[in-house]
Amino acid sequence: MKIAIIGAGYVGLTTAVVLAYLNHDVAVVEKDKNKLNLLHEGKSPIHEPGIQGLLEEVQHTIRFTPNVAEVVPEAELILIAVGTPPKKNGEADTQHVEQAAREVAEVCLPDRHYTLVVKSTVPIGTNQRVAKVVASVFSARGIQGNVSVASNPEFLQEGLALQGALYPDRIVVGANSDAAVDTLRRLYKPILEQTFDPPSEFPRPSAYHLPPMMTTDPNSAEMIKYAANTFLALKISFINEIAGLCEKVSADVTEVARGIGLDTRIGNLFLRAGLGWGGSCYPKDTSALLGVAAQSGYEMPITEAARTVNFRQRAHIIEKLRSVLKTLKGKTVGILGLAFKPNTDDVREAPSLDIIRELLAAGATVRAHDPIAIENAQRALSGKDPFANTNLYFTEDIDALAYDADALVLVTEWELYHRLQLRKLAKQMKTPILIDGRNVYSPAEARAAGFHYIGVGRI
Ligand code: UGA
Repeated sequence: MKIAIIGAGYVGLTTAVVLAYLNHDVAVVEKDKNKLNLLHEGKSPIHEPGIQGLLEEVQHTIRFTPNVAEVVPEAELILIAVGTPPKKNGEADTQHVEQAAREVAEVCLPDRHYTLVVKSTVPIGTNQRVAKVVASVFSARGIQGNVSVASNPEFLQEGLALQGALYPDRIVVGANSDAAVDTLRRLYKPILEQTFDPPSEFPRPSAYHLPPMMTTDPNSAEMIKYAANTFLALKISFINEIAGLCEKVSADVTEVARGIGLDTRIGNLFLRAGLGWGGSCYPKDTSALLGVAAQSGYEMPITEAARTVNFRQRAHIIEKLRSVLKTLKGKTVGILGLAFKPNTDDVREAPSLDIIRELLAAGATVRAHDPIAIENAQRALSGKDPFANTNLYFTEDIDALAYDADALVLVTEWELYHRLQLRKLAKQMKTPILIDGRNVYSPAEARAAGFHYIGVGRI
């Protein structure tokens, strides 16, 4: 099938590479010159495990262009995967989605049928607006046009995006037309029936079952996306709230999570207590959902509470540091991990940024380590002034991070940090304090290695 994908971000590029791997004929429209140059050189502009290899494998069925008019007219299906960044009031900004729809409608041929799919995460009602945008462009062009608009929300996780795209739990399609549903069923046939040979890096999981394709109306599909992310966000906030109480009553939240997770109605996933969620999705989507609710005059106290609990986890870490160091002024703190989660260089809404800002404001010196996110964190923290943080240092050497430091804070649970030489690090520090913001270590193990250990919700 000939496909045009608008936007080569996480969602757009992952989808493009996977669809090309499934032998679809894929053209990606990307306007950012830097990204486009990299893509023309065969390089992925995003950091995602396995994407570079797969991109190289599909070079013959994928192409990149800045020009909608070059690829849309001949496409059967057009996927919009552009960003919906938060506006100042927290609502999602859909102007890029609408602009993409407008540009597509301007170059559609009058005598062909197209399926226009919104994959970006959008507020409820956006598909209807996109259909109106398309209709108004057609009327301005004086043509009838034949476009079916459909919602096809994306559920991929950064760091696991290709697995998620090849082996999804489900595919959700929201459409009012049978033609759109049929086109999307043909598009995803190899995934729905798992008829493709798995890429060597991504073998099919042994317990994997064929995914259902759920069809519904566009508004419900849009709501499914927000509800899924909000539910996962509040599941994490719930265990973090329990963790706080565990600290007060001397219980271990990892044991509690294990015990409740064995109930199949609850399930054991997304019950890892710690520094909570960051990234480009949960913070933005919970806030956008509250925006939709506010516009409807509806209160969502559970979603609001999930956000409150999430962001106070960051403040709790600072309180824990204060409780052991007495004052933060003049102290040196090593930060292990800048990315919002492992296997990505993404620092958007990362807990590390708030923690570092808070420590600097309190007069501490901060040394920060991350395997791949240092550059992005540097950019996020320096703002307009590159010399703004004179007490902030970045290092790629964990020994240098620990040397003579007053405390270490483990912020991101990178695999590398699961294998730290605790005994050696403790010896190098001025005071061997480990605040484990992701409960990577068992308290007994860290204490045996000489650390004063404080986890999240642990004894
Ligand atoms: C999330 C969803 O998981 C995807 O299904 C969705 O498609 C995506 O948002 C999106 O809307 O684009 P993502 O933000 O990439 O994906 O990452 P997650 O793996 O869900 O983790 C989010 C945050 O929760 C991370 O900061 C992680 O450290 C934290 N987390 C996760 C916990 O604190 N505890 C847990 O038990 C699990």
